[in-house]
Amino acid sequence: MSAMDFDEENNHEMTPLVQALCQQIGRVSFHMPGHRQGIGFPYLFSPGLACLDTTELGGTGDLAAPSGHVLEAYRLAAQFFGAKESWIITSGTTASIFIMMAGPLREGDQIIIPRAVHMAAVHAVAVLGLIPIFVDSEEDKTFPDGQPNTQSFIETIERYPSARACFVTRPDYYGRTIDLAPIAQAAHRLGMTLLVDEAHGAHFAAAPDLLPATALAQGADITCQSAHKTLPALTPASFLHISRAAIDNHRIDHERVSQMVKIFQTSSPSFLIAATADAARSMVACEGHDRIKYLIRQNADLCEKLPDHYRRVLPTDADPTRLVLDYSATGLDRLHFLSVLDSAGIDAELVDSNRVVFLPALDQSEEDYRRLSETLRAIKPETDQRRLTQHQDKLDSLTAQRDKLLSAPAGFELTVRQSLFGRRDFVQHAGKNIATQTIAPYPPGMPIVWPGEIISDEHRIYMNMLEAEGIAQRGVPLSF
Ligand SMILES: Cc1ncc(COP(=O)(O)O)c(C=O)c1O
Repeated sequence: MSAMDFDEENNHEMTPLVQALCQQIGRVSFHMPGHRQGIGFPYLFSPGLACLDTTELGGTGDLAAPSGHVLEAYRLAAQFFGAKESWIITSGTTASIFIMMAGPLREGDQIIIPRAVHMAAVHAVAVLGLIPIFVDSEEDKTFPDGQPNTQSFIETIERYPSARACFVTRPDYYGRTIDLAPIAQAAHRLGMTLLVDEAHGAHFAAAPDLLPATALAQGADITCQSAHKTLPALTPASFLHISRAAIDNHRIDHERVSQMVKIFQTSSPSFLIAATADAARSMVACEGHDRIKYLIRQNADLCEKLPDHYRRVLPTDADPTRLVLDYSATGLDRLHFLSVLDSAGIDAELVDSNRVVFLPALDQSEEDYRRLSETLRAIKPETDQRRLTQHQDKLDSLTAQRDKLLSAPAGFELTVRQSLFGRRDFVQHAGKNIATQTIAPYPPGMPIVWPGEIISDEHRIYMNMLEAEGIAQRGVPLSF
């Protein structure tokens, strides 16, 4: 390193994060957060960000011990989302997932859970010392993106009646949903609680006639939603909801949830973030239906005008406000496709090897849609048939491998807790190929290897394939 490099590195006038954020100004956001740089509620920011950042005062209240106007905000949220009780959690759905699991479960309890859940759920399992029972696919069958169907959940519940809870992600990152009602029935019959990670579905309650039913409406006991993903709240605002039936039937205890909020949430929750969750609830309750209708129409109009080398991915019961396009027939590889969007100043939520996920905000402008449409239509597809076939073969192989690994049965050598938090000598003794972190492409953060599982050659080959696609991964061992 030269002296000049060193000086550059220690120049404290530099504010790299501020600069990086400023460079985002003017780009077209088709990703989280849903408030799009505060456009969603300019009135809230007019007094200045710093003035709104405060601690628990008589005038603000305590988010972890709600009374007065905090309780009123929680009551309004519960009323709108169809819960008996709602909380605003200002450290993300990540924290809400910890609270959601800790509410009904105790150390050593079994939880029925798919392999492909957000990393936060894996880490909650570890911290709480739970025993994961993976939802199996029928022999040799795999789940798309590792997301089991309703029947597979029910079969696993019936095979493991001693489990205490069942955990479902609904909708998934691509907006797909499954029918929860029969899962809720099967779980409740055996005294299990149904926990739903509804991080991507906070807007569902606003338009029951246009969108999939909410998890609470389908019998979930406790759910959590990221208010910053599909609603216009600041990152990382989250809602935690408990159903009326769960409280009435003693599947969830209010006092215990309240205790867990105080354990897993910072003791200085951000009122600014909470206020935006409150504002987002108000906005979506008052105007959400119209805006959702508008988004559905914009998405449909855009797709209608797209050439045939784009295919909209919208299976039955998926969320039509999410715009998922399969771009594999363009023949463009992922990095090339990303660079085209980037040059046009457009940021998608997720681009995998064959699909792009655009996450339009409730107030996404017609001008943004026009720019997106023009950019997509300007892409020249590959015409060489041989190269197209080669490209498609590569994608088929990636997809098959992804679904196989994300649907694989568990192969634990150590418990999730031991491998993450156990004594170093104990973990080393167990073997060098055992994962000591969650290994997952990010986003969406669904693990191909849970901590405590063996990293096989098949995993290594797949990780290499992802690397070649330029897909970021979390938890890949340094020695890899
Ligand atoms: C399905 C799912 N669950 C949970 C989370 C964590 O949410 P948060 O970022 O609000 O902590 C995410 C984040 O992307 C997610 O996609």
